[in-house]
Amino acid sequence: MSHFKCSSVYNNYNNPQAREFLSDKIGQTNNYNIHVNKINKNKLIKTIYIYKYYKKSSGTDLDKLNHFCKFVPRQTLSSFLVRNELFKLIQDVHGDIIEGGVFVGGGLAAFAQLSAIYEPYNHIRQIVGFDTFGGYPEFSDKDKTRFSPPHAKTGGLKADVLKDLEECFKLYDLNRPLGHIPRVELVKGVAEKTIPKYVKDNPHLVVAMLFLDFNLYSPTKAAIDNFLPRMPKGSVIAFDELSFKAFPGETLAVLDSIGLSNLRIKRFTHNPHISYAVLE
Ligand SMILES: C[S@@+](CC[C@H](N)C(=O)[O-])C[C@H]1O[C@@H](n2cnc3c(N)ncnc32)[C@H](O)[C@@H]1O
Repeated sequence: MSHFKCSSVYNNYNNPQAREFLSDKIGQTNNYNIHVNKINKNKLIKTIYIYKYYKKSSGTDLDKLNHFCKFVPRQTLSSFLVRNELFKLIQDVHGDIIEGGVFVGGGLAAFAQLSAIYEPYNHIRQIVGFDTFGGYPEFSDKDKTRFSPPHAKTGGLKADVLKDLEECFKLYDLNRPLGHIPRVELVKGVAEKTIPKYVKDNPHLVVAMLFLDFNLYSPTKAAIDNFLPRMPKGSVIAFDELSFKAFPGETLAVLDSIGLSNLRIKRFTHNPHISYAVLE
């Protein structure tokens, strides 16, 4: 048991060693907590207990998915509720939903599900996600801080899930009206390159919501610079790391592009991270 294995749980989602560490700890709940104090110990302990409970709880995996509130952590439910609130803000705004930083895809899938629930016949709205699917490409000085977590480095948050997500959204298409018209698009690559190309290749693009969750300065600035001219009044720009000391890059990107004082930044009482502004 070592610090390396432990912090890898957060550094690399697909690292088999990290997964092995986690399942190993699930079998040894009496001593796993001795070595985890360098990372977010409470989060890991809770994750282990929830996972352990999920594994032993009665019912099939399908039963458990259908009763997800028994198992899904409160924080994850809160993030979903926030996405629901954000979605309702743009329900009558024409245009696409863009998520910058997809990671494993839970947030993008949430927007896709909400679109299928609230506006099943809106075949014009696309839900578009941008990610390297290989983790952070690079860290600039603007992103570094003494509060940075262990995964804040090149390759951190690597989640090689493109194929997995393609399958996920094929299944999603099977369970909604107009499923023959794809609603989700995944754009792989470094956002500073893929975003300008995407805008050029899609001259019709209108953006109803830009959800920024890259964590870093450079892709956030590229997203704002390229998508903002495509956002009408009433559209929403949302942030996951604004005013967040572990990742100052997102705030700096807003300062260097739109300017904070030009936005009426609001938040939800049940979620500390996510903030947003309606463009006026
Ligand atoms: C915090 S995660 C996104 C979480 C996701 N929005 C969710 O709700 O689960 C940040 C993601 O941004 C991606 N990312 C960071 N910098 C990037 C860049 N320059 N280009 C493309 N993707 C980038 C990383 O690969 C990582 O998957």
